[in-house]
Amino acid sequence: MELTFYGHACFSVKAGGKDILFDPFISGNEKATAIDIDSIPADFMLITHGHADHMADAIPIAKRTGAKVVSNYEIVVHLGGQGVENGHPMNHGGKWKFDFGTAKYVNAVHSSSFADGSYAGQPGGFILETGDGNFYYSGDTALTYDMKLFGAQHDLDFAVLPIGDNFTMGIDDAVMAAEFVNVKKVVGVHYDTFGYIVIDHEAAKAAFAAKGIELLLPGIGETITV
Ligand code: NI
Ligand code: MN
Repeated sequence: MELTFYGHACFSVKAGGKDILFDPFISGNEKATAIDIDSIPADFMLITHGHADHMADAIPIAKRTGAKVVSNYEIVVHLGGQGVENGHPMNHGGKWKFDFGTAKYVNAVHSSSFADGSYAGQPGGFILETGDGNFYYSGDTALTYDMKLFGAQHDLDFAVLPIGDNFTMGIDDAVMAAEFVNVKKVVGVHYDTFGYIVIDHEAAKAAFAAKGIELLLPGIGETITV
């Protein structure tokens, strides 16, 4: 599966011929100034939770592309009130068949509020099952034993996990998360963007490699095949 990294926790995959964009936060990311948000393709936009570093650019991209926005009920309703009418609300444990395949919204242990502090529903992650491959994107989360269930229920090819620590799992917990969901490939996100989450890339790769897991850290703007 083709995956393009746009910095922080924003990335897109191609599945079923569709561009699926996750957690758009680009214009506020000093490290992602080379990315032109007006040229990012999106047929779908999946948002894990309400924090600005996951959805600050959701409205302009959704309005330009007409992408279907998939998130929790509260976020979809909130965006609907701001003119993003092509939304699909979900909640934990639910799945839905879209054009690209199936998406399931799963538990995450984190918080979720909009930039003004109002309630943005409970945070989540997504499990995608598509003809081009299956993967788990945890969103911002702590390590949780729930991940064992995701690995037991789904045959996953890779996972996209936060590794920056402080606000989410750090490297050691992300290694265990990868073991829980039973993948041998992880794309690391949510690191280096700001001071609290700067990591040592080589040490991170070594920690995963010690458990037989490959950690991929694509550059911002880079497309990789996972
Ligand atoms: Ni967050
Ligand atoms: Mn975050």
